[in-house]
Amino acid sequence: MPGPRPILMLLETSTFGSIRLHRRIGHGTLRACYTIREHPGVCAKIVRPDLGLLRRLQALVIRRRTNLVEARTYRRLPPEIKPYFNPVLEAEPQFVVTRMPLNPDGTPARSVHAHGRITSDGFWKHVKQIHRSLAHHRLWLFDVLNGRNMLVMERTPGDWRPLIVDYKRIGWKAFPWQVNLLLESERRRKLDRRYRTFLRRYRG
Ligand SMILES: Nc1ncnc2c1ncn2[C@@H]1O[C@H](COP(=O)(O)OP(=O)(O)OP(=O)(O)O)[C@@H](O)[C@H]1O
Ligand SMILES: [Mg+2]
Repeated sequence: MPGPRPILMLLETSTFGSIRLHRRIGHGTLRACYTIREHPGVCAKIVRPDLGLLRRLQALVIRRRTNLVEARTYRRLPPEIKPYFNPVLEAEPQFVVTRMPLNPDGTPARSVHAHGRITSDGFWKHVKQIHRSLAHHRLWLFDVLNGRNMLVMERTPGDWRPLIVDYKRIGWKAFPWQVNLLLESERRRKLDRRYRTFLRRYRG
């Protein structure tokens, strides 16, 4: 199957100057992530160029503040779990520049989903710590315990760590049709459910 069409898009950033999107390394429902040839240490996310009209409207109208919300969430993270989140380096309504997660041998970190089941006990201890801390701080980031929004950093054979790359959806406002989430107890239940499902799906 042919890969996604190459795009030649320039972003004007204040930190890195004018940067050119290079190779697409992943995509979600609305955004796609690209490497930057001149800056191998970072990558950038933009609204997917291949979206249909409705999805494009969703991204540009309903979710227009997504990147700014993600940057604010990063700034406010509790220190004990901040290192598990891939930092937002610069955010604008049209794009976000983040660090490019690489394993120590220089290979790009893969998502939990791409890995399949993970047997490293250390990895699951970190995930437990993330879940515990989110619940303790009532930080309702339901989407982070998700195989596509979390990467695996393979530091050494016995030391694997999770790295969260998508944390834009926060709180009940991100799920406005789920009115039950107005109740704090329901938010906790949803977070716990996501945690259990994540373990069931990916723990080896
Ligand atoms: N910094 C990164 N390094 C490598 N891959 C990344 C990075 N950020 C995102 N990705 C990949 O790109 C995908 C899309 O990014 P992201 O999840 O932010 O998009 P989205 O459209 O906002 O997601 P969703 O469909 O969950 O709403 C991720 O699932 C991940 O596989
Ligand atoms: Mg995502």
